[in-house]
Amino acid sequence: MVAAKIAVIYSSTYGHVRTLAEAIAEASKATGAQVDLYQFPEILSDEVLAKMHAAPKADYPIIKPDDLKNYDGFLFGIPTRYGRAVGAASAFFDATGGLWATGGLVGKFAGIFTSSASQHGGQETTALTTLPFLAHHGISYVPIGFAASQLTDNTEIVGGSAYGAAAIAGGDGSRGLTEKELAIAAYQGKSFAEFVSTFVAGKSALAAAKETSAPAAANAVPASAAATSEAAPYELNDKDAAPATTETAPTTGALTGAAPTTTTSAPAAETEKATPAASTPAPKASQPKKKGGFFGCCGKAEHYDS
Ligand SMILES: Cc1cc2nc3c(=O)[nH]c(=O)nc-3n(C[C@H](O)[C@H](O)[C@H](O)COP(=O)(O)O)c2cc1C
Repeated sequence: MVAAKIAVIYSSTYGHVRTLAEAIAEASKATGAQVDLYQFPEILSDEVLAKMHAAPKADYPIIKPDDLKNYDGFLFGIPTRYGRAVGAASAFFDATGGLWATGGLVGKFAGIFTSSASQHGGQETTALTTLPFLAHHGISYVPIGFAASQLTDNTEIVGGSAYGAAAIAGGDGSRGLTEKELAIAAYQGKSFAEFVSTFVAGKSALAAAKETSAPAAANAVPASAAATSEAAPYELNDKDAAPATTETAPTTGALTGAAPTTTTSAPAAETEKATPAASTPAPKASQPKKKGGFFGCCGKAEHYDS
């Protein structure tokens, strides 16, 4: 099997994001993926870093924009500054314009992890405000959701969110990573590597099948996926919902491409009133049961499959 290539790229002033990066890289590597650790180029002067009492930098190589082309996925370790990404990460993305212009990163994947001083200092906003970098490059974002049980453990303060692992460093940086935060980091490393590896394996199977014209290509794409590719992109799940009235309502043609019509027939509201479908109360849509979640905190238990 072709191993997925993953770059864990981080910035860290006091060491928390570095610790997360190392835990994430180790867990990713354990899946069989090829994993390399990098640092974002520092943009602050030595003088400023000294005034901030920054920790010495690790020896991991400094990432260059072109290095990104060599990987299938990236795990970005981006500490929080004023609720968003540290400038070093932002400056690095500013240097990737050439890759953007050539679509060099289209089809790759990324996850985000972070660190903030306080529990509510912006871990989620740091991830959210980093998403435009990914979107503009055509990189697909892979969150971690709540599958790591530590994320819903309220017996102690735990950094991290559905957007990725995180440390809570404390105002003076003295709070170390807890076992639970490290477990979330390991989960992110493992799940991301498995996700990207699945994609890489499928892609290489498709490429091999194309080369040999073997029927494996058909097997590589699940029948259900093939069937839905022709289907309407947005289809209501609920077949019991009220019948559509679009056939009787006049259309401006805006969506169909037809010329807008000035019709003398009754406006939509009146037409609907006149049709039996509209005068009969629409059958109540049956409430579809939600799939069982990872935890039962939200909503009523009966709304979830056990
Ligand atoms: C200029 C500056 C802005 C910061 N802004 C925030 C913030 O908005 N919220 C927060 O909780 N922590 C904030 N912090 C604290 C850092 O997020 C924290 O020191 C960092 O995540 C620790 O990670 P590290 O040990 O890898 O450097 C800020 C720190 C600096 C230097």
